[in-house]
Amino acid sequence: MNLFEVYSLFDIEPVRAEGNYVFTQDGTKYLDMYGGHAVISIGHSHPDYKNRITKQLNKIGFYSNSVPIGIQQEMAEKLGELSGYPDWNLFLCNSGAEANENALKVASAYNQRKKVFVFEKGFHGRTSLAVAATDNPKILLPVNEGAEIIRLPLEDFDGAESVLLQQDVCCVLIEGIQGVGGINIPTINFLSHLRKLCDQTNTVLILDEIQSGFGRTGKFFAHQHSEVVPDVITIAKGMGNGFPVGGVMIHPKFKAQPGMLGTTFGGNHLACSAALAVLEIIEKESLIENADKIGAYLKEELISIPQVKEVRGLGLMIGIEFDFEIADLRDELLYSHHVFTGSSSNKKVLRLLPPLGIKKHEADQFLNALKEVLS
Ligand SMILES: Cc1ncc(COP(=O)(O)O)c(C=O)c1O
Repeated sequence: MNLFEVYSLFDIEPVRAEGNYVFTQDGTKYLDMYGGHAVISIGHSHPDYKNRITKQLNKIGFYSNSVPIGIQQEMAEKLGELSGYPDWNLFLCNSGAEANENALKVASAYNQRKKVFVFEKGFHGRTSLAVAATDNPKILLPVNEGAEIIRLPLEDFDGAESVLLQQDVCCVLIEGIQGVGGINIPTINFLSHLRKLCDQTNTVLILDEIQSGFGRTGKFFAHQHSEVVPDVITIAKGMGNGFPVGGVMIHPKFKAQPGMLGTTFGGNHLACSAALAVLEIIEKESLIENADKIGAYLKEELISIPQVKEVRGLGLMIGIEFDFEIADLRDELLYSHHVFTGSSSNKKVLRLLPPLGIKKHEADQFLNALKEVLS
């Protein structure tokens, strides 16, 4: 059998990884400024992460959600403590798209409405309602159509007001920082405006922190750079450092009903041990503070490069905009300088999403490579 070829691939296969680097079979070392698409939070092959998952595997790897799974509660408590939402509830699933699908269900069960209000350039996943909420007609198929989606530009204060004051919108779904769309940050004022309108109209405010959460922006969640408290938060990517795990964090005002949500694999023992290890390492190694510090350093250095038009982002979620398309630049960084970077739907934006523990000398390695390619 062959693979269903839906991805365009770089001609480089990492077979081993450690810290902030990946290695090919011949031992060539690549700096990971991409974090495997914002997934690698605590660094590759962290010894405490490997130990926790191995120990768990040696005890029990899986049993269904029909029995108590103690490590779910242990992980939920740690997540509540580190994220600043200790009184909230957690539903566990397996991916970002699944987290968003379930968040939309929680919202709809709450107010019995069906319209979903989203933003241009937003990305929320590939499953049916999540892809309908995503601003990319190229990945939408007839089976995904039919959802009632309202889409406006970010920062359209008046537009948001007239949509929400109709009083028939189920929820607002917004990324903490738009990632795939090219690193666009909603302003604190815009988030506060949405919060106020949602309160006024019984609309649920869902923050998609799948890419921007778990410390990436120098706070646990990107929205915590503001004072806004959402109703529901979706998480995945950095949560498992590569182990597939996602979650929906739910304000206590939402009441759970047996059977309301469900999944076979969500919250399994191994996924929870991976997520718990990630949380413990984030705390022990002060990775959020590091993301803030190294992110600020990178931004400051980047903006002084003459060819750089704009630098956007917070912490280690950075978009570098040029006035040319970056595909060749990205190839050259990878093939000639051995640095992985990310792209975005804005073809002129290079995206950085390195592991949160990246060191200054590694940031310098990237900066030097970039300057050389641009010279
Ligand atoms: C903001 C955001 N939401 C949702 C998703 C979908 O996550 P997954 O690919 O795990 O389904 C992504 C993935 O890139 C994302 O960046």
